[in-house]
Amino acid sequence: MSRSPLQNVLVLDFGSQTTQLIARRVREVQVYCEIHPFNISIADIKAMSPKGIILSGGPASVYDEDAPAISREIFELGIPILGICYGMQFTTMLFGGRVEKSDHREYGHAKLIIDDPNELFHGLADKAIGHQVWMSHGDRVEELAPGFRVIAHSASCPVAAMAHETRPIYGVQFHPEVAHTEIGRDVLSNFLFRVCSCKPDWNMRSFVSSTVEDIRARAGDRKVICALSGGVDSTVTALLINRAIGSNLTCIFVNNGLLRKNEAQVVLAFLKQFQLNVRYVDAEERFLSKLKGVADPEEKRKIIGREFIKVFEEEASKIDQVDFLAQGTLYPDVIESVSFKGPSATIKSHHNVGGLPEVMKLELIEPLRELFKDEVRKVAEELGMPYELVNRHPFPGPGLAIRVLGEVTRLRLSILREADAIVLEEMKASDWYWKVWQAFAVLLPVRTVGVMGDERTYDHVVAIRVVDSLDAMTADWSKLPYDLLGRMSNRIINEVKGVNRVCYDISSKPPATIEWE
Ligand code: XMP
Repeated sequence: MSRSPLQNVLVLDFGSQTTQLIARRVREVQVYCEIHPFNISIADIKAMSPKGIILSGGPASVYDEDAPAISREIFELGIPILGICYGMQFTTMLFGGRVEKSDHREYGHAKLIIDDPNELFHGLADKAIGHQVWMSHGDRVEELAPGFRVIAHSASCPVAAMAHETRPIYGVQFHPEVAHTEIGRDVLSNFLFRVCSCKPDWNMRSFVSSTVEDIRARAGDRKVICALSGGVDSTVTALLINRAIGSNLTCIFVNNGLLRKNEAQVVLAFLKQFQLNVRYVDAEERFLSKLKGVADPEEKRKIIGREFIKVFEEEASKIDQVDFLAQGTLYPDVIESVSFKGPSATIKSHHNVGGLPEVMKLELIEPLRELFKDEVRKVAEELGMPYELVNRHPFPGPGLAIRVLGEVTRLRLSILREADAIVLEEMKASDWYWKVWQAFAVLLPVRTVGVMGDERTYDHVVAIRVVDSLDAMTADWSKLPYDLLGRMSNRIINEVKGVNRVCYDISSKPPATIEWE
């Protein structure tokens, strides 16, 4: 999708775990920024005419046989460059300095002493005790390349930052993008605003207006369809397209029978306010009959994915002349598919409607493909979505099917739905819902003995899963207050027929996962 001429900064990715963080930090100060693989061509760089280039860190040593390398030409374009960690070491090598190979990593906090006031450290007080920064490196610069000077050091790193004498080329051994580097935001801002002369012109209001214009120009009066799940990504996608082309967008909401209690009603009621053109498809029967007798989690996922595509195609075929399929693809998925894969390459995320674009053979409209998740939430607010919907917990595409362990039946789904609704109610009533990443109930495939009144029972067990996380890649169980856990347990056992025992899951990810299946 063409974008109006925003100023752009490029991050060239050498495979660091924090490459995405660099881009997010740049965008947080309202400068548009894109990540590209380190081996992007010079022609492509020129075509983007970036205001600045940041070289990321990376797991390699500059001495590795297949160490990722960029050409000297990039430094001759006259574009300011900031090398971070590996980026700095590589720059040093390229300009004829010496990097010392190390057999151990320096990892953790360090105190940065600024030796030379310069643009990168503008406004940072010359603290005798040093500024707290975060280091994570093996190799380090031992001898500067001709033309460079040291601008900061730390106790164990004589060249913790460097600058070229005459050209706008800088290097830092520490990681300005991580939160532990207290001066990180200042250093990046100095690079962007003082060295690159960027303007802070990236914000979600301008994103909304330019995206709506782009969609209008591209779709014209042709028709677009969109699968709507009620999650933030698909809802924001639909709202943007709706704003651009109104009723030429048809949203298809498939109730697969695996949604939470009252989910379909809540989502539909919300969408109604925005006058979205929504087709509601009640496909509960279809999904549940396909899932009959199936206990294997991956098999369940496959069946649900396949059935979803069939239902969606059938519905889409009822609309004349559709040209576009809209998807809520986010920037991390885009980077994942094009970027350099270092050892830190992320674990593949789950794709709920995997295969839909291939099967539908329609042109894709992906208005969120430049955005990180936190930016999507800001767009959602900008579009008027209420806090509750913008900040709701993620919900997996296969829905409750992967939380009813073993076979999915109507009865077991309804037990889980009731228990899950109590967990969510209590989490919200205590405000804990907004502090955690995800909270839900799981129905276990075992029954245990209990006693209710004078009678022995042999009933179901529910597990409560509540986790803290930043991105779902790692997670820890939430330390909920005992009285909150106690209330949930009492209510589930008293109010949900068929449950006589409740457990709290105290496993972290890894080695456990967030979902049980
Ligand atoms: P795990 O269980 O892998 O979950 O730790 C990480 C995050 O992904 C969600 N999840 C899914 N989302 N389809 C989805 O759309 C799936 O099949 C799926 N499985 C897990 C999970 O809820 C958590 O947020």
